[in-house]
Amino acid sequence: MVRLAGEVVVLEDRCPHRLAPLSAGAVVGATLECAYHGWRFEGSGRCVEVPSAGRERAAPPKARCGAPHGVVERHGLVFVALEPPLVELPGVEAFDDPAKVRVELDPFSGRYGAAQLVDNQLDAAHFAYLHRETFGSAQGRAVPDGEIVRSPWGFAMTMEMPIRARNDPLAVSGDHPLEQHRTMRYRYVAPFFVELELGYPVMGGSSVIVFFVQPETAERSTMYVTLLFEQPQGFTDAELAERVAFEYRVVREDLALQERFGDLAMPLDVTVECHVRSDRASLELRRCLAQLVLAP
Ligand code: FES
Ligand SMILES: [Fe+2]
Repeated sequence: MVRLAGEVVVLEDRCPHRLAPLSAGAVVGATLECAYHGWRFEGSGRCVEVPSAGRERAAPPKARCGAPHGVVERHGLVFVALEPPLVELPGVEAFDDPAKVRVELDPFSGRYGAAQLVDNQLDAAHFAYLHRETFGSAQGRAVPDGEIVRSPWGFAMTMEMPIRARNDPLAVSGDHPLEQHRTMRYRYVAPFFVELELGYPVMGGSSVIVFFVQPETAERSTMYVTLLFEQPQGFTDAELAERVAFEYRVVREDLALQERFGDLAMPLDVTVECHVRSDRASLELRRCLAQLVLAP
């Protein structure tokens, strides 16, 4: 991926000449120049110059490197569709809300399964255990029923959960009870997008957490997390920094377990794992992914 003349360009990392990695090349003007013999490629992948053949000779028609079906820059990220996409890119209304403070966490890359990372974010049954040091509440061990509303390539789910706010800077900075309820509105869009809107009925305010997960290999993924905070009375810089540090702690609690999974492939056959009533979102995730995999 390079930026040529201001446009993000994605090309196959393989020069058509001797199949050298084009990622070792350099941007020269509006072209990408291969590091090996200096062939130059424009954004479409077409070769526009073969220096060894002399300037007067046109590049052979085969001198073209592969390009994806489409590239879109949105939400501060670059999305690449290798083939015509089945699912529209999800919009995120919260990104356009001027009342929200937006913070992008550093991307989390590692030995993670992309579907498992998404599953983790849709799962409310782990709060009381994996997050007992941050917001998990013993009162939240039994997960309330969330109502699932399907969309063509995903679903939404709303529930109310007790949380323990002792380590939550929003609660600690005010005079609030430590055990509280918060509303959670999940939105999932296949394959690897989750938006979670958290409402704090006791303290006021809300936050939205947006997750995009990028599978890189069968054993590596990167998770991009954006936080959007809204507080009726606003934040000081210190409060905001504390809030962000808290979210890093929560994500790290999740990832410390995710990276220990032996098998990073999620079974889409729902008879393989043992699902219970409170796993409805996880079950729906598997159904959506199966639908995507089986789509013609
Ligand atoms: S391998 Fe790229 S120019 Fe020769
Ligand atoms: Fe978690």
